Amino acid sequence: MQNQKPIIVRLEDYRVADYLIDKTDLSFYLREQETWVQAKLHIRRNPEAGEGLPELALNGEQLDLLEVKLNGQLLPPAHYQVDEQFLRVQPQQEGFVLETKVRIYPHKNTALEGLYQSAAGSMYCTQCEAEGFRKITYYLDRPDVMSRFSVRITADKARYPLLLSNGNLIESGNGENNSEHFALWHDPFPKPCYLFALVAANLSCAEDQFITQSGRKVTLRIYAEPSYIEQVGHAMTSLKKAMRWDEEVYGREYDLDLFMIVAVDDFNMGAMENKGLNIFNTSCLLAHPQTATDAAFQRVEAVVAHEYFHNWSGNRVTCRDWFQLSLKEGFTVFRDAAFSADMNSPTVKRIDDVRLLRTQQFAEDAGPLAHPVRPSSYMEISNFYTLTVYEKGAEVVRMLHSLLGAETFRQGSDLYFARHDGQAVTCDDFVQAMQDASGQDLTQFKRWYSQAGTPQLAVRGEYLAEEKRYLLHFTQSCPPTAELADKQPFVIPVKLALLEQQGDELPLHLTGEREAQGTCRVIPITKAVQSVCFENISSEPVPSLLRGFSAPVKLDFAYSREQLCFLMQHDADGFNRVEAAQQLSLQVLQDLITQRQNGSPWQLDPLLIKALQRVLTDNRLEAAMVAEMLSLPSEAWLVERAEIANIEAIHHAREYARRHLADALHPLLRARYQQLRETSRNTPFAASAEHFARRALQNTALGYLMQTDDDQVLAACLEQFAQSDNLTERLAALVALVNSTHIQEREQALASFATQYQAYPLVMDGWLAVQASSPLYGTLEKVRELMRHAAFNLNNPNRARALIGSFCNQNLLQFHQADGSGYRFLADCVLQLDRLNPQTAARLLTPLTRFRKYDEKHQALMQSELARLQQAHLSKDVFELVSKSLG
Ligand code: PHE
Ligand code: ZN
Repeated sequence: MQNQKPIIVRLEDYRVADYLIDKTDLSFYLREQETWVQAKLHIRRNPEAGEGLPELALNGEQLDLLEVKLNGQLLPPAHYQVDEQFLRVQPQQEGFVLETKVRIYPHKNTALEGLYQSAAGSMYCTQCEAEGFRKITYYLDRPDVMSRFSVRITADKARYPLLLSNGNLIESGNGENNSEHFALWHDPFPKPCYLFALVAANLSCAEDQFITQSGRKVTLRIYAEPSYIEQVGHAMTSLKKAMRWDEEVYGREYDLDLFMIVAVDDFNMGAMENKGLNIFNTSCLLAHPQTATDAAFQRVEAVVAHEYFHNWSGNRVTCRDWFQLSLKEGFTVFRDAAFSADMNSPTVKRIDDVRLLRTQQFAEDAGPLAHPVRPSSYMEISNFYTLTVYEKGAEVVRMLHSLLGAETFRQGSDLYFARHDGQAVTCDDFVQAMQDASGQDLTQFKRWYSQAGTPQLAVRGEYLAEEKRYLLHFTQSCPPTAELADKQPFVIPVKLALLEQQGDELPLHLTGEREAQGTCRVIPITKAVQSVCFENISSEPVPSLLRGFSAPVKLDFAYSREQLCFLMQHDADGFNRVEAAQQLSLQVLQDLITQRQNGSPWQLDPLLIKALQRVLTDNRLEAAMVAEMLSLPSEAWLVERAEIANIEAIHHAREYARRHLADALHPLLRARYQQLRETSRNTPFAASAEHFARRALQNTALGYLMQTDDDQVLAACLEQFAQSDNLTERLAALVALVNSTHIQEREQALASFATQYQAYPLVMDGWLAVQASSPLYGTLEKVRELMRHAAFNLNNPNRARALIGSFCNQNLLQFHQADGSGYRFLADCVLQLDRLNPQTAARLLTPLTRFRKYDEKHQALMQSELARLQQAHLSKDVFELVSKSLG
């Protein structure tokens, strides 16, 4: 726990390191109650840092220092100083060898940062990003200090037969003590210490190989608990696809002879890209049809690729300092998204990503914790692994890609990797490479890195019939945020087309151009107010704007509902076609929300029913598109769209719409459902886009149908629950039952599910989440009860997120209860968890920081819980979020 005034770290204070560490030799002795770590650091004065020999301050926290040696000589305590954060030594030469010996206690490490035990002590593993290495040994724990690592691990042979670290295995054998053994690893690539990893465990291994484009053979190993090893096949396939893809699309080849992945149960995040030794949360690695949903299959593929891609975007070229986090994360998320799009349905992938961005990242950007893609200050860097740094950061790279075009972008990335290989660099360096490769001036574009907040882009169309011209008038603005009140205009690439009455795209001929250039173009909007004029337009078109969501902005164009129906039928851009359906649903839902708030009778615009009928009867429309178009905007998105969100009205309006649509579309939905379920029953499971789409539509249809009073539907739902061969169908049936009025069937299904999957914690997470997400009355009591269930364990972040996180994020109706009980519950959980695991506690807190969206009464209740937290003894992590939220 921290004092209440943590230090603020600022980008403007960045200085190069005074000393460098050329070589790092580590020895670990892993013993029951304690671990010894010996470090031998070959240190040299940094020639770029200036004259003289300043004091050397090595980071170190929660370490018992046993011994310090300088150039082989024991250093008496009077010659060094040690406090809670540093070990300080006064060097006498430019180059020297510093040795330390420390004692640490992995079995007591519940924060899951540094060296800790997972799976009830059956394994040791590490997590060092961002600043966990300092909890392992004294070091210059900053990413611009890169060193060659040799690591010797000694541990009990029987309990920990597997000893792993980065790079190549050099030597292994018996320890001094006969019950122990050792392994020596060497990583030839210099790396910052945040990429260090160690694992000691008793695991099974799946092995495969990959031949690189230049013909080198790479051994691939995925390690997991013996009971999990049957579930790693999909990850292995994904890894090989990712390796090939990175060669083909980016020209990036793997650089070691061995690539390892280890699955662990207890992990704060999704996974970690340690050089040659990725460590994964089981939730992002395991996938088997009976125990993983389609979403999990896709997550595994994406995260395996993401961590693999980091080998170049993150490891070979790393970050100069943590303010540049998006350099590696934004770029790598962009890369993994393009990979997933290539492997599956690009449209569905884009819709999923934009949904996350618009509901969660926009909320972050509009709340008290808003920060730029490249933040300029922090108290605790762990708090900046955010949707802004990751997802908005990826959008920024995506905009560069669309402004430059694929080919030039590739030249830019080649230049970036060639120029900075082996270096620790900045976001500016990345943009500079893109600028140098393209010849485009990207100075203004860089505002995306420094200005927070979501830009608004208002667009108005004007048709001049006599001149046969169509004008689009753009106005951009961006709300003030804490770090900057007055925003300068952004470069906003708007990808657009103009549709004539038949739905065909018109040639786009901008005034001043000699001729039309295609029918779909990216037009950069760079000014606060800007107009674009198109020639030879013989009747008023319908614009298809911001295709594929070409910029992370709030677009505002006053489409009529008829125009949205038209785009739903005709837009050639799959994303915008679904977007039109979503916008129409939004408008209709907003009517209902107003009706609910005014106490007037429900009136659902029949246009929506007609439009969805057309969707359900259009045989040419792919299942994935139908599923997306039928899905109503989530409550979270409705909150985001509201000035002040009335959760009660939002929830009931949406429920009314679901029921009403289910009744109106009943025969169509039922026919479609039966046909799809029939196919599912007769087709063996496959993790392919086509199968994902079928199950998505089938389950969407089932969700609607279960809103109607129809015994045959209930029977069908029970059949799907009992008979399907995969978790996606089974869980969807369970969700429908849990949210239904069929109490007996619900309880039975929950009980049988729990019996069937009690040995599968990740599946039980789904079971916890389904119950926590149910908007039915009494859920909070149920959640409290489930916290005492054997399937729950507050020490495990996946469990905490599944139960507490689902309740607070997915169950808006119950979380925002007017008596403040949901808020109090969350604050209590955060307090309890903060003592065990500050990082996960801080992440869990997020919903309480979103108070700006709610009315005064709710705001006051949320803020009073934050204030209560502020009175407590908090970690730096939670303290930063609470104090910034309260302003
Ligand atoms: N760098 C990891 C990733 O994106 C995320 C991570 C951060 C994991 C911090 C653990 C700790 O890919
Ligand atoms: Zn990453």
